[in-house]
Amino acid sequence: MRAHKRRPAIERVLITGKIPEVGLRLLQAHFAVRQYEGPLPMPRPQLLEEVAQCEALVSLVADRIDREVIQAGRSLKLISNHAVGVDNIDVAFATRQGIVVTNTPAVLSEATADLTWALILAVSRRVVEGDRLVRQGRFTAWDPLLLRGQDLVGKTLGLVGAGRIGSAVARRAAGWQMPILYYSRTAKPELEKHHSARKVDLPTLFEQADVISLHLPLTDQTHHLITASLLKRMKPSAVFVNTARGAIVREADLVRALEEGWIAGAGLDVFEHEPDIHPRLLELSNVVLTPHIGSATYTTRDAMAEMAAKNIILFSQGQKPLSVVNPEALAGFECES
Ligand code: NAP
Ligand code: GLV
Repeated sequence: MRAHKRRPAIERVLITGKIPEVGLRLLQAHFAVRQYEGPLPMPRPQLLEEVAQCEALVSLVADRIDREVIQAGRSLKLISNHAVGVDNIDVAFATRQGIVVTNTPAVLSEATADLTWALILAVSRRVVEGDRLVRQGRFTAWDPLLLRGQDLVGKTLGLVGAGRIGSAVARRAAGWQMPILYYSRTAKPELEKHHSARKVDLPTLFEQADVISLHLPLTDQTHHLITASLLKRMKPSAVFVNTARGAIVREADLVRALEEGWIAGAGLDVFEHEPDIHPRLLELSNVVLTPHIGSATYTTRDAMAEMAAKNIILFSQGQKPLSVVNPEALAGFECES
């Protein structure tokens, strides 16, 4: 006997913060939309109250969509995350409750790879330190010893995670003729064929790479994957970049690595307890810090908003959303799966 399937009917959508106009307009053309417009993140009591009055939620990275929020969403059928990473959502619990979770992969890979390279270059060539020096009126003469950094041409790039964003970072490395080592669950034949990349274990990658860049999702398996024992294997001239998720790294260990000169520097777009930053990171000159802006270009943020909106619209029309995180939940609806 076939299990009873629910109708994917959506009437009311809650958006937990301002998103680009293109996504808002699309949603407004189909549903009754309530968009929270105050400072982010949406205050928890308000989120708990308002999630009870919608069938679909557009959530942002800073929202903790945990069991309590999901249970408060008595009519909730779909959570459309305005991001590719879904570590802010208790996906397992949503699935048990029969709630579909969608995300926005691929459209942000190039922009995030660009920001990754911006950090690699800024740290290697000490761009931010130079900017501070100039603004402080300390640029007095061309100096052969001033702000020497690291060359990149011919150096080894180590990618921890070699999916969509890791691959986009690898493509750009060709400009610096960098051999590539990568760590991933599965082999990546395209990377190996076109970029002569070599799959290695984590200790080998940390020992041999000159630039190490993280591109994993944050999961139970990757939480604190990077700790002192790996960081200690890095070359003292090496640069570490994280545009994935802060909690993949034990941040206190990274601070020690930077303070004690185990590595040359770091570029960080994400933090273990963001928006709180480890206070000692703020003291360090060999670190470049950005406020989780990996995908923050006009066109990419438009594409993410459009995709987040279309995921809800397609679902409500009984079609498969563009990107479903938990297909098991989708199977519970009268919807293409
Ligand atoms: P993706 O295409 O799914 O790639 C993820 C990679 O991580 C794959 O190579 C995957 O291996 C590997 N991986 C996953 N779990 C692993 C594990 N337990 N052990 C070893 N390797 C593992 O994801 P993406 O689109 O590149 O995005 C990656 C992450 O970047 C997102 O999850 C998000 O957290 C972050 N991100 C940040 C920003 C920002 O603004 N800073 C923007 C976008 C994304 P397999 O392919 O072998 O499974
Ligand atoms: C941003 O961090 C994303 O996961 O899209």
